[in-house]
Amino acid sequence: MRPESILVTGGAGYIGSHVVKQLLEKSDANITIIDNLSTGTRGRIDALEAIAGRSGRIDFIEADLADFSMIEGVFKAKKFDALIHFAASIVVPESVEKPLKYYMNNTVNTTNLVSLLNEYGVNRMIFSSTAAVYGEPDEVPVKEGTQTAPINPYGMSKLMSESVIKDAAAANTEFKFAILRYFNVAGADMNGAEALNEIAPRIGQSFPNATHLIKIAAETALGKRDKMYIFGEDFNTHDGTGMRDYIHVDDLADAHLEALDYLQNRDSDIFNVGYGHGYSVKEVIEVMKDVSGVDFRVEIGPRRAGDPAVLVSDNSKICEKMGWKPKFDDLAKICKSALEWEKKIS
Ligand code: UD1
Repeated sequence: MRPESILVTGGAGYIGSHVVKQLLEKSDANITIIDNLSTGTRGRIDALEAIAGRSGRIDFIEADLADFSMIEGVFKAKKFDALIHFAASIVVPESVEKPLKYYMNNTVNTTNLVSLLNEYGVNRMIFSSTAAVYGEPDEVPVKEGTQTAPINPYGMSKLMSESVIKDAAAANTEFKFAILRYFNVAGADMNGAEALNEIAPRIGQSFPNATHLIKIAAETALGKRDKMYIFGEDFNTHDGTGMRDYIHVDDLADAHLEALDYLQNRDSDIFNVGYGHGYSVKEVIEVMKDVSGVDFRVEIGPRRAGDPAVLVSDNSKICEKMGWKPKFDDLAKICKSALEWEKKIS
């Protein structure tokens, strides 16, 4: 049986909103969203409320996790069976300039939440972690047991949060967690589409000043930028450009629902969430040109600080243990859904 009452922090954000959407479509759970709308948007809450219809299954609370007494008030007022914790700061270069923002928003807030879970008897937690905990891994594909060695405060703030959760679970055998280490999340709501020309997302990525490759390529295809850059053409890869494991946001969202099921009768664990194979920057750009029909301008620029050449998951653990089956492992669908969403927010 799945949890009936779920707290989702960051549910107005890019990934959180896709998970809430799937919870509405595939479960009967009531969902409480806490989001401070710093990067999350009211528009996504509206879209989720439209999906929920008259069921009244969503309760949105605008609050900052740093406001501990307010958050405790939510736990006092409502009984939850599980927490899915997305709310975090996620921009790698900003984390280097403002490390304390990352340790406060990510590690401190997660610690406060875990203490509330323990105090109020909420015994299931799904945590959004990142491939950034591996830093520049010396083995690819990356396994969950690959050494963790973050190279920026963002990755470190997430790794420290993982430790808090693991230690709390070791001391409280009732409390169980699934830590999901995301690889490169991209794309937008498939909304039931099967063919490329049917894709019409209701929600997607609207992070201002996004640095993500697929979003930048979509913006360039639509003329929101006059050109884009490839950050380095001299990596040790087949075409010299960086390789990443791009995963469609709807498949990532589905992994959270699988994790909720998994925790009903299995032990806490850590899982990579990716497709287990990668694409180069040039390959991504070619596919975006293809699905958009626009031969947009691309220039070669210098490498970006801290970019590893290749970051690809070994996903066999989540596939075998949870039975997770990706449905959108198709770069054209990832790019086309990102592009259609970008058109919608133009
Ligand atoms: C990083 C983080 C990830 C985080 C994400 C967004 C690591 C290991 N990963 O992913 O956890 O969620 O940032 O903050 O730190 N590229 C270009 N031109 C562009 C943009 C990107 O060539 O205009 C290249 C990059 O050099 C890289 C690839 O595209 O090779 C992907 O970059 P990006 O989408 O920014 O994600 P990551 O840096 O891999």
